[in-house]
Amino acid sequence: MAGDAPSSLPVQLVEQPRLLKLKESFIAKFGSAPKFYVRAPGRVNLIGEHIDYCGYAVLPMAIEQDILIAVEPVNNDVVQLANTNSLYLDFSTSVNDIQINKTKPQWHNYFLCGLKGIQVELAEICTKSERYIGTEGGGMDQSISFLAEEGTAKLIEFSPLRATDVRLPSGAAFVIANSCVEMNKAATSYYNIRVMECRLATKLLSKSKGLDWKKMLRLQDVQAKLGVSLEEMLTIVEEVLHPEPYSTEEICKCLGISLEDLRSQILSQNTQDVSTFKLHQRAKHVYSEAARVLEFKKICNEAPANAIQLLGELMNQSYISCREMYECSCPELDRLVDICLQFGAVGSRLTGAGWGGCTVSMVPTDKLNTFLKNVKKAYYQNDVQRLALENNSLFATKPGRGALVFVEA
Ligand code: GLA
Repeated sequence: MAGDAPSSLPVQLVEQPRLLKLKESFIAKFGSAPKFYVRAPGRVNLIGEHIDYCGYAVLPMAIEQDILIAVEPVNNDVVQLANTNSLYLDFSTSVNDIQINKTKPQWHNYFLCGLKGIQVELAEICTKSERYIGTEGGGMDQSISFLAEEGTAKLIEFSPLRATDVRLPSGAAFVIANSCVEMNKAATSYYNIRVMECRLATKLLSKSKGLDWKKMLRLQDVQAKLGVSLEEMLTIVEEVLHPEPYSTEEICKCLGISLEDLRSQILSQNTQDVSTFKLHQRAKHVYSEAARVLEFKKICNEAPANAIQLLGELMNQSYISCREMYECSCPELDRLVDICLQFGAVGSRLTGAGWGGCTVSMVPTDKLNTFLKNVKKAYYQNDVQRLALENNSLFATKPGRGALVFVEA
C-alpha cells in the first residue's frame, strides 16, 4: 500500500480508560500484559459509493470512533484470539495452518485474512486480504484507515493508490445514523453480485467498442481505453446496454463463451448460480457517481458561498442513484434518510455498501442539536431494539486520524 505506515504513539494508560479496560481483560484472559495496542478508526464515505472496485476515486474520512486490539508477541506458532464481546468466541490456530471458512465467516476469520495476506504479499495488503473472506471489495475502507489524517477527508484514487486532502466546509457537521439493520457482506452475495454486474457491464461495453474485453475488469478501464469523459461513458451505456436484466444465456451469447467459461473465468464463487444481471442501471450509477465525487471535491476546493447547499444536493443525488439504479438501499435506510432531510439535513445518503448499516447526513451546525433530538425521537425512541443501540447509533463526527499503534509510555 502506498503512503505512510501507521504511526506509533506513546500513551499513559491511566488517561485512556478504554485501553486500560482492554489491558485488564487481556490479563484476565491470557495471564500476562499486552506489549502494544493497535487502533483502527471507523470510516464514513461522504460520496462515491460502489465505485472503488470499478477503479474510480471515492471520498471518505476516518472518524474518531475506533476498534482497539491488544497484542502480545509469543515465541511459538500459535495465534490466540479473544474478543471483549462474549458473543464472539475465543479462537486459536497455528500460523502454519490458516483455514478461512468462507461459507460461515466468523469474526476471527478477518484476523486470519490479515495474517494470510502478510504471508502472501505486502503491497496493498489489506485490500487483497479482504478477498480471502470472499468479498470482492474495492479498497476504500482499508485505504482511508491507513491514509487518513485528522481534520480532513480524502479523495482516494486507485491504481496507483493516492490520497489527496479534501477540506470540508466549516458551518456543517456530518452526522452518522445507524439504521440498525445489519447486512453481512461476506455471508451474503448482495455485494459480490453488484461487483459482478459491473464486471459484466465492463466486458459487454468493451466488446461492443472493439476492445480486448477479456483483459478488462473494471468500468474505469473502459473509459481509460476509450479516452472519453464520464459524460460520454453515460451516453455509451445508453447506446450499448439495455435496461432489461440480462440472462446468463444472453451474456454468454454476447461474449461468445460457454456458461462454464462464464462461471469459471468471470463470476465469483458466491455468484455462480445467479441467473440474471442488471448491467445498464449499475453502469449508469458508477459513471454518474464517479462524476459526483469529482464535483464534490471541486466544490470543497473552490468553497463558493453556497458550498453546503451544493454538496448536500450531490449527496442527495448519490443516494437516489444508490436506491434506484444500484438498488443497495433498504426500507429502513430510506425512512432514515427521509427523517434526516425532514429535520434539517441539507444532504443525506446511505454510506458504505448499503442494504443496512448507516446513513451520513450533512447538517448546518446551528441546527445540529435540534436535528439530533428530532431524529432520535422519530427513528429510535419508539423501537426498543433501536433505542438500546441509540447511544452508539446517532452522532456527529469529524475527520479523525488513521490507524495507529499505541505503546505504553
Ligand atoms: C464496502 C466496501 C468498499 C466499498 C463500499 C461501497 O464498504 O468494503 O470497498 O465498495 O462498500 O462504496
